[in-house]
Amino acid sequence: MSQSLVTMSYIVATILFILSLSGLSNQETARRGNYYGMLGMAIAIGATALSSAVSSYVMLLIALTIGGTIGAKAAIKVEMTQMPELVAIMHSLVGLAAILVGFANFMDTGTLSGVEKSIHEIEIYVGILIGAVTFSGSVIAFGKLSERISGKPLLLPHRHLLNLGLLAIAIFLGNWFLNAAQNDGGTLALLLMTAVALAFGIHMVMAIGGADMPVVVSMLNSYSGWSAAATGFMLSNDLLIVTGALVGSSGAILSYIMCRAMNRRFLSVIAGGFGTVSSGEAAEIVGDIQTIETQEVAKLLMEAKNIMIIPGYGMAVAQAQHTVYEITKLLRSKGKKVGFGIHPVAGRMPGHMNVLLAEAKVPYDIVFEMDEINSDWADVQVSIVIGANDIVNPSALTDPSSPIAGMPVLECWKSDATIVLKRSMASGYAGVGNPLFVEENTRMLFGDANTMLQGVLKALQY
Ligand code: TAP
Repeated sequence: MSQSLVTMSYIVATILFILSLSGLSNQETARRGNYYGMLGMAIAIGATALSSAVSSYVMLLIALTIGGTIGAKAAIKVEMTQMPELVAIMHSLVGLAAILVGFANFMDTGTLSGVEKSIHEIEIYVGILIGAVTFSGSVIAFGKLSERISGKPLLLPHRHLLNLGLLAIAIFLGNWFLNAAQNDGGTLALLLMTAVALAFGIHMVMAIGGADMPVVVSMLNSYSGWSAAATGFMLSNDLLIVTGALVGSSGAILSYIMCRAMNRRFLSVIAGGFGTVSSGEAAEIVGDIQTIETQEVAKLLMEAKNIMIIPGYGMAVAQAQHTVYEITKLLRSKGKKVGFGIHPVAGRMPGHMNVLLAEAKVPYDIVFEMDEINSDWADVQVSIVIGANDIVNPSALTDPSSPIAGMPVLECWKSDATIVLKRSMASGYAGVGNPLFVEENTRMLFGDANTMLQGVLKALQY
């Protein structure tokens, strides 16, 4: 394929990626956005495979087969609840690729000289640095999301000084590397910097408490984009630079949105180890709980005019979204107003609940963001919390020592009655007790969300 045709294909792929991102910003256009992205990626891979950058088709085929098989198997096998972990581990691979490409470029001395050589060495150094932080940070995020590593923040003494120290060492090693590379040296400096960057990535994510993980997920998403852009610079691949920059900047915007949703400061996020200042012990929950049975829930729903459903991570675990929608259809057919209130950090990944509800074909116009409905609870007769916990925890607003202090929550306790559906009194991801469970107008419906909702559906149909 001629170079101009490759460039044309890259431009088309870039446009498709931009259309994809803009499509993904809205539920109604998200499916189309995905198709644009797939088409863009197919064009990008096809053009790269046919370009002069490929010297061995056998190697390319082997790599595509191995990567494609692992990717397809993982995507087919993964449960919806494991999606965030899959995304985290995929981010780590982008970081690993940047490290490997960086070292390969370093070992391949090439024909560059003078300023061009120095610029290329800076690209290698920065590429490996970002790649290593992304790699180790994403592996720790994977561990935390899959609960292989405790969600509790690891607060080393003087951790901010430690981070600053690691940054100073990275700058010192950079200077050493660039000087040594003039004489074809620098291997030791590069290896030491990689170790420092890996340690920084581990420390940064370990220091972040469970409740603040949403910001970490989006931040690592952004880092993976910058890693890809850095790889693009090292390989002189324009498409990779543009795509990486798109992912990096959209991830940064998502991090900002997540910070706002959690009432955290963006700058302290970038510095790492944020959101841990107030991580005192969760308050003891005092009071008696009142339970309810499925028949009584059905009765309450039949009496209500305005019902708000709040889905959380437990709905994903129970895969209850289809039963929830069956109940919604039935109630709407009886003239009830039924809506869904979505917290920005519900579940374990951005947009988690929207994806589940879209899968069950819940119409978009009855799905509301937290800000749209948080002042309307007084008009709601029954709110049903399905496998959600942290996002409806009043202590976020009332207990300054809580790890989730300051996070806006769905204030469902202001409705006439709240039904909380979960299996036990266990806490949510942030490990915080929830006083909502002992509120005067709260009724606890204990059990697996799908099983219990099937019971409610049956009682409603009866
Ligand atoms: P959580 O606070 O984690 O609460 C989920 C609740 O679901 C649990 O208390 C659990 O109680 C219940 N549950 C689990 N399986 C269930 C089942 N089969 N049937 C019924 N209930 C079930 O979830 P949330 O309210 O959605 O809040 C999200 C939390 O995750 C926040 O702390 C957020 O910061 C964090 N987080 C979010 C993200 C993103 S990007 N969204 C990423 C990482 C972390 P039982 O065990 O008693 O059933």
